[in-house]
Amino acid sequence: MDLQTLITDPGTRIIVCCGAGGVGKTTTSAALALAAAEAGRTVVVLTIDPARRLAQSLGLVELDNEPRRVDVPGAPGELHAMMLDMKRTFDDVVAAHSTPERAQQILENPFYQALSSSFSGTQEYMAMEKLGQLRASEQWDLIVVDTPPSRSALDFLDAPNRMSRFLDGTMIRLLVAPSRAGFRFASAGFLLFSRIVSKILGGQLLRDISAFVAALDTMFGGFRERATATYELLRRPGTWFVVVATPEPDALREASYFVDRLSAEGMPLAGLVLNRTHPPATTALSATRAEGAAEEVLEAGAADAELAAAALRVHAERMQLATREQHLADRFTSAHPEVAVRTVPAAAGDVHDLDGLRVMGQELTGPDADTPTGTPRTRVLPARRG
Ligand SMILES: Nc1ncnc2c1ncn2[C@@H]1O[C@H](COP(=O)(O)OP(=O)(O)OP(=O)(O)O)[C@@H](O)[C@H]1O
Ligand SMILES: [Mg+2]
Repeated sequence: MDLQTLITDPGTRIIVCCGAGGVGKTTTSAALALAAAEAGRTVVVLTIDPARRLAQSLGLVELDNEPRRVDVPGAPGELHAMMLDMKRTFDDVVAAHSTPERAQQILENPFYQALSSSFSGTQEYMAMEKLGQLRASEQWDLIVVDTPPSRSALDFLDAPNRMSRFLDGTMIRLLVAPSRAGFRFASAGFLLFSRIVSKILGGQLLRDISAFVAALDTMFGGFRERATATYELLRRPGTWFVVVATPEPDALREASYFVDRLSAEGMPLAGLVLNRTHPPATTALSATRAEGAAEEVLEAGAADAELAAAALRVHAERMQLATREQHLADRFTSAHPEVAVRTVPAAAGDVHDLDGLRVMGQELTGPDADTPTGTPRTRVLPARRG
């Protein structure tokens, strides 16, 4: 996967980093954005819940929902970063789509307040909304989008639909006003159901929902149109997806689902970043031979035998780990031979500052030492020397 060409190509306007929870989406997004700024582009990275230390080094101390310039000494381009404030984004959408009085009504509604800060999928939906806004401003050469820490990477693609279906939903209308909206459809069973729901949820909540839906009525079109437009943006030329996974079965399975979904939706995939791999220092010595050597050393019983044996055992363990990771990577590649893969070794500690991001950026975009021809291939284990 040639990410250097991808991030420097003026035709590349949006890069979306997706993947299972905790695999390195936020870090990869920030590292790619930094690399693009250093390659001369004007970049904004939209991060979602970045780890605190990473946020600090990007200058994101407060959640102001607007991009801020990050000082990158010597970079010919510009790096801007922002953290998504899901509630603020939702409020802005409401304000933009209704009269001030209506907006006020909605914003003060307890049901809206719950929805805008905790409905599952709100974060995904608002990330897309923000992406649409950033894109519309025409201020950026390149927008790098991090995605929320969902259990499933697919949530990001599904949320807008789910959200507009929900807001638009017959269900919710029937619930709040069975006698009006859906009288003809409301069976006795349904009326019973709605009475039970009303009992469980409480009359006040239902009245809140009802007021919310009434106030929102005029906005339905707005919401749905925007969600559809942004979804289409993801399909347009100039948008690329980068799927991130760690060399673990669950993360790779998630990546597999996502890759299939992208191809079904006709959305362009740049490739897979296999993050936090553990390549051993050398492959010249196999795990078995290292284990054997450790035993021999101990039997011989020289002065620092224990230390030497321990070092050999560490190497044996790393060889085994790398072999397992290579096996998982190979399995992914044989299921998806068309998907380019780039491996990024685990750094010694967390990646939380510009220097760390730069190192990761080089792993992502630098020449792949193992592939002199430039053909993408999955390498966890370094090439055997000699
Ligand atoms: N290549 C790497 N080497 C070492 N640490 C890494 C690497 N990539 C990511 N990390 C660390 O792993 C942790 C998780 O990374 P990150 O926050 O980017 O994951 P994420 O996919 O965004 O998680 P979430 O799904 O919770 O949003 C962070 O502490 C980060 O510093
Ligand atoms: Mg994250």
